[in-house]
Amino acid sequence: MPRKVILAANWKMNLTMKKSTDLVDDILNKMKNKDNCEIILFPSFLHIPAIMEKIKGRNIGLGGQNLYFEEVGAYTGEIAAFQLVDVGCTHVLIGHSERRHYFHEDYETVNKKVIQALASNLKVMLCVGESLEERENNVTEMVVVDQIVSAMQNISIKNLNDISIAYEPIWAIGTGRNATPADAAHVHKIIRKALGRIFNTDAAAGISILYGGSVKPENIKELMAEEDIDGVLVGGASLKAEPFLDLMKLIN
Ligand code: PGA
Repeated sequence: MPRKVILAANWKMNLTMKKSTDLVDDILNKMKNKDNCEIILFPSFLHIPAIMEKIKGRNIGLGGQNLYFEEVGAYTGEIAAFQLVDVGCTHVLIGHSERRHYFHEDYETVNKKVIQALASNLKVMLCVGESLEERENNVTEMVVVDQIVSAMQNISIKNLNDISIAYEPIWAIGTGRNATPADAAHVHKIIRKALGRIFNTDAAAGISILYGGSVKPENIKELMAEEDIDGVLVGGASLKAEPFLDLMKLIN
């Protein structure tokens, strides 16, 4: 079965309510109803219900940028998987490098979040990627494989339909530098191999692996030309309608 092509927008801690809903309006008004890719938006938690109202019936996924791994209860300031589902989320981002780095999410935390999300019927987009120092020390493959293996602990093969991976080299995020398509594709192959060892090669062949890190209309074509790159996770270039619509057109 061909893998799903995914265009995902990570708005991070950007935009007011008005700006994010205007952006959604703009995208919806101008996008052609093509089904060449699956679109998923990851706005601020606060804007999710308003955006949900706008995208109803439009075949666009909506997700949280994070969740807490406990099911429910006294965890002041946290957001539960069931609460994301309750307001219409279909997806959640887990293990973004900004979460791992600034909020000290370790392998165990990421794994617990993946487990909770899947148990709550959310589709998981798991982010992995190496730092510049790790790349320079030639440990990229080891780091990324460790991130995959640890995140997949106690995950059943039945859940693989609900998982996609976003490979985002940290040094390429928001910096304007991106990995060469061949470098990215190489790491994507390593990730698929690791998934093959954990589950099996057939199952691993069906998982969409996205690239992220300074993706823009100018470089998406060459990235998507690589066989193992199945989509993109976009930060900066998803904050305005025009580049995002261009990405939509160019993705395949
Ligand atoms: P960027 O962010 O496109 O601004 O580099 C990507 C991401 O962090 O998901």
